[in-house]
Amino acid sequence: MLLRPPLLVATFLWHLPSIFAFNWSRDAHARNAPSTLHVASRSTCAATRLLSTPVSVTTTASSTADALIDAIDRMDLSPNDDVRRIFHGRGGCYPGYEHFTLDWFPPVLLLTSFKNITNEDLTKWSDAIDARWKECFATEDDGAMNQDTGMNLVYQCRATTPTTTLLHSGALPEGQHIVKENGDQYLVHLLRGQNHGLFLDMANGRTWVRENAKGERVLNLFAYTCAFSISALNGGAAEVVNCDMARGAIKIGQRNHELNGLKSARFLSHDIMKSWGKLKKLGPYGYGLIIVDPPSYQKGSFIARKDYAKIIRRLPTLLRPGGRTLLCLNAPELDTHFLKSLVESHAPELQFVERLENPDTFPALDQERSLKVLLYELSCSVQ
Ligand SMILES: C[S@@+](CC[C@H](N)C(=O)[O-])C[C@H]1O[C@@H](n2cnc3c(N)ncnc32)[C@H](O)[C@@H]1O
Repeated sequence: MLLRPPLLVATFLWHLPSIFAFNWSRDAHARNAPSTLHVASRSTCAATRLLSTPVSVTTTASSTADALIDAIDRMDLSPNDDVRRIFHGRGGCYPGYEHFTLDWFPPVLLLTSFKNITNEDLTKWSDAIDARWKECFATEDDGAMNQDTGMNLVYQCRATTPTTTLLHSGALPEGQHIVKENGDQYLVHLLRGQNHGLFLDMANGRTWVRENAKGERVLNLFAYTCAFSISALNGGAAEVVNCDMARGAIKIGQRNHELNGLKSARFLSHDIMKSWGKLKKLGPYGYGLIIVDPPSYQKGSFIARKDYAKIIRRLPTLLRPGGRTLLCLNAPELDTHFLKSLVESHAPELQFVERLENPDTFPALDQERSLKVLLYELSCSVQ
């Protein structure tokens, strides 16, 4: 069953409280980007990073004049695909297209613009998407992908406050919209608020956790919808403690665990900055892995520049000897040096191991302005 446009008003009203509850943005560029973005030629960007997903955008200079149309023409969609980014203009690799992203949350495409665009331009891109959709699903007949009903497209404009999100055409799965990534399943909500339940730029972080959490007790701080917990438990973690102050996000996190048939998780709706006693009690012998993935700037809750140090200084007492921590930050104005110098000053017992790469589907001219995920380890000899 699919949710058709007549049901949209009711859906919008039902979700209205959540729109305001989820008012922070993972895409820090949305809030912090200067009015003129740092851009370079496409060939410079090609040297920076090539995309591994052949169906996605190209970073070579042979593209058409319209980088978004180029990506649309090249996308290859199938209902069984993993969730993925198709076009990432935010990294500055496509001059003039810094304000666009296009994501595939099967069976729905999500076009996001961080600037107001005209109806004519929206029609130009949506017509291109519709044409490509019909090519991709020429032989599909499962209802959601029927080429006669055309594309399922959601358009989000982030230039407005609050963000405007519309079902542009087609339909959404009714009830639960479930997407897959590496065999894990996640609930997403494309018409509810600014964020959608799963951050696609963190895909490599989730893969790392899945591959490294076996047998560990994991603390997932700033858990949101607990995606890291799903990766950790599917990777064999002994237990995950998830903590986030947003009750609605934690509830979705619990449903994500049910969806994946996972039981060994705890959920705390709790302001991390206010007390650590419970988190310490739940990991009496120390956690083997602590994930720290806060917002860059959430007024009244967490401001990375002033609050990240308060988290970092707690980590050595929460980790078991030899335990590891992933420190994440998505603030263009704060680079890896910012995080490294906080660790040096506030938790010198932690040794830097590596920075995880961002997914190839997020090409960027300057990786320091993109998502940072730094891996640290506590020395085995620390008591
Ligand atoms: C960037 S998101 C986390 C994304 C998540 N780790 C993931 O992989 O999907 C930041 C989260 O921090 C939460 N948050 C912000 N300030 C907080 C605080 N002081 N205590 C607990 N949670 C907080 C927000 O509710 C939000 O869910």
